[in-house]
Amino acid sequence: MLRIGTVGFLWVWRILVLLQLSSGILGWGREGHYATCRIAEEYLTKEAKAAVKELLPNSAGGDLASVCSWADEIRHSYHWHWTGPLHYVDTPDFKCNYDYCRDCHDLAGNKDRCVTGAIYNYTKQLMEFDRGSYSAATYNLTEALMFLSHFVGDVHQPLHVGFTGDEGGNTIIVRWYRRKTNLHHVWDNMIIDSALKTFYQSDLTNMIEAIQRNITDGWSNDASSWGNCASNQTACPDPYAAESIKLACKFAYRSATPGSTLEDDYFLSRLPVVEQRLAQGGVRLAATLNRIFASGDRVAAA
Ligand SMILES: *[C@@H]1O[C@H](CO)[C@@H](O)[C@H](O)[C@H]1NC(C)=O
Ligand SMILES: *[C@@H]1O[C@H](CO)[C@@H](O)[C@H](O)[C@H]1NC(C)=O
Ligand SMILES: *[C@@H]1O[C@H](CO)[C@@H](O)[C@H](O)[C@H]1NC(C)=O
Ligand SMILES: *[C@@H]1O[C@H](CO)[C@@H](O)[C@H](O)[C@H]1NC(C)=O
Repeated sequence: MLRIGTVGFLWVWRILVLLQLSSGILGWGREGHYATCRIAEEYLTKEAKAAVKELLPNSAGGDLASVCSWADEIRHSYHWHWTGPLHYVDTPDFKCNYDYCRDCHDLAGNKDRCVTGAIYNYTKQLMEFDRGSYSAATYNLTEALMFLSHFVGDVHQPLHVGFTGDEGGNTIIVRWYRRKTNLHHVWDNMIIDSALKTFYQSDLTNMIEAIQRNITDGWSNDASSWGNCASNQTACPDPYAAESIKLACKFAYRSATPGSTLEDDYFLSRLPVVEQRLAQGGVRLAATLNRIFASGDRVAAA
């Protein structure tokens, strides 16, 4: 009995692992999301910090970064299945541009069901908190905060704004050094994993600190404008998605055809792109949260 049970369990486990690997549409992996949110935390205003703290679940221990993969953890459960399409937006094949009206829908064609639509949606919900109507809020704003923090990360992963036909690189099977995987997974996880091992003594904190140094020094001229939104918008994910598909075409898809082996050349030339996208995701998440929680007449405390 026990043996059969164990074997059965092992098979189920293996299948789950395979599903994880093959479905692969998880957004930056845990490390990427953690890094983005950790960076964001550094740039929050006092008001935004207080609001975030109030909204975080107890399990977060006051740390936004610790819940930034929540949206991935729940997405395969029945109740949350509908949120799958909120992690990405696909463009028509070989079109290196993005258009909200054309592209933001789920497979069934429901409008606004995509990563940029979700960023607008959860921003709007969080504005209710700022207006002091938290207790009367229609939506669970703890969830809204966790979704928003996750999706601002996702929209910066270039292959989360990839082509429809290859599911953002998920169906492009490649080798990452000796390991068989798919191109999407390379950008979610493998580039970051290899960087951690090669350059950061396998310590994510080292990588985050190197990125933070670059935000203040390396990219300083650029970085000061990353958080800006045109025309007084609170959230502006559309330009981020447009950047992502451009980077997908220029860096992710290039020289990564089905069956190719990606090694040092690809790794070393793409890593700076990945690190800059993690940085931009963090700075922009902070800027968005700062606008949400500063936009005015908050009366909750009264
Ligand atoms: C907005 O978020 C709420 C809460 O998760 C959800 O019920 C609703 O369907 C979302 N709307 C869109 C367009 O995704
Ligand atoms: C809000 O969502 C979180 C995460 O799903 C959950 O733990 C919490 O109980 C929810 N709060 C309410 C009031 O439903
Ligand atoms: C820092 O910026 C430089 C110059 O753009 C780049 O070459 C390097 O890869 C960046 N490092 C990190 C950790 O972002
Ligand atoms: C931005 O908001 C300010 C203050 O609410 C307003 O005066 C200005 O006209 C707005 N600008 C745009 C482009 O909407």
